[in-house]
Amino acid sequence: MPNILADKKIVLGVTGSIACYKAVDLASKLKQAGALVEVILTESAQQFLSPLSFNSITHQPVVTSLFDTNSEAGINHVALARRADIVVVAPATANTIAKIANGQADDALGTTVLATEAPIMVCPAMDGNMYESPATQANIATLKERGIHLAGPEVGHLASGQTGIGRLIEPQQIASHIRLILGRNGDLAGKKIVVSAGGTRESLDPVREITNRSSGKMGYAIAEAALDRGASVVLVSTPTNLSSPVGATVVLVKDAADMYQAIITESKDADGLVMAAAVADWQPVASSGQKAKKSNKKTWAIELTQTPDIIASVSTKGLIKVGFAAETESVLQNAEAKIKSKNLDIVVANDVSSEQIGFGSDNNEVTIIDRLGRVEETGLLSKYDIAWQILDRTLEFMKAT
Ligand code: C5P
Repeated sequence: MPNILADKKIVLGVTGSIACYKAVDLASKLKQAGALVEVILTESAQQFLSPLSFNSITHQPVVTSLFDTNSEAGINHVALARRADIVVVAPATANTIAKIANGQADDALGTTVLATEAPIMVCPAMDGNMYESPATQANIATLKERGIHLAGPEVGHLASGQTGIGRLIEPQQIASHIRLILGRNGDLAGKKIVVSAGGTRESLDPVREITNRSSGKMGYAIAEAALDRGASVVLVSTPTNLSSPVGATVVLVKDAADMYQAIITESKDADGLVMAAAVADWQPVASSGQKAKKSNKKTWAIELTQTPDIIASVSTKGLIKVGFAAETESVLQNAEAKIKSKNLDIVVANDVSSEQIGFGSDNNEVTIIDRLGRVEETGLLSKYDIAWQILDRTLEFMKAT
């Protein structure tokens, strides 16, 4: 199964912010995803957490000093820096950020950051005033100038009891940033992929709409997999409960007409378009500006008109088009017909009549059919794994054009 974090060597530098408890969760998430996580604790971080908290999760020695001759860092002070695929400092205090900006190497973390040739990511966490102080801002600017990645902080509740900027971003978000950095030279690097997701909502009046059961999960999984492979991703989505994939440009739309505009615009310079959205085929002829009143009428006949077919309208020039065919019957025949009628390269067909797969589920089972007549059944897989397979085929067509 594709896994961008598998066997990646991640050095996690943890500094003395109260937010360092989140680093334990981060280490756990990275380890569970298959990464080799080596933790360096600064002296102040050791006031908050013991090395054992990390050691029990990572199953690796935790570096606490440059001068411990029993540890690898004491014998070879740049060993971690050399083997790292990425060095992540999370949480990063104002003090550590200042030290990195000045190139100080008076502890194991400073030495590693200075010596590594791997990408470095710093996730600040501190009081709002400390973060906004000219000194910290200048230090952060220096880090950025040197190509160090910054992720966060966010606005939220701070340890001081106040609400403001300075909160460490969530471990899940940090993990997503790590994936983005590690994947940036992947096989889709330099390609722009537009993905649509979610179900469109066609207004009848200001409070009522016609929609469908699409959760958006398949489209979001495609966006995530494309980001993991280095693509630049524009995700055109209706509002969903899902969090925006880190690194994607998200364009929020409501109805089929909005989605049409966004897709046509974004596809102009794109290499691939994957229409995973469940776009309404019909929209009300008229949408009332006021809430329709309950009257004495026993019935309400709503007149619908066809929406423009978005994927069929997009030019195929230099663009690989992938459509979905959510069917409840004659899945294959309908999918093959769609390739011709919409001028597609690939159709992903699934039977949405099953509860285990399709709408709302984390898994799916699809048949990937292409314009060369190849038919491939994926079997039951996670939507992310299916996304990977769809992108494999998309990339193949991109290379051939
Ligand atoms: O024709 P049908 O709606 O079954 O086709 C589904 C495929 O076409 C999906 O990829 C969907 O996103 C796309 N579609 C579209 N514009 C529409 C309706 C569907 O691009 N108006």
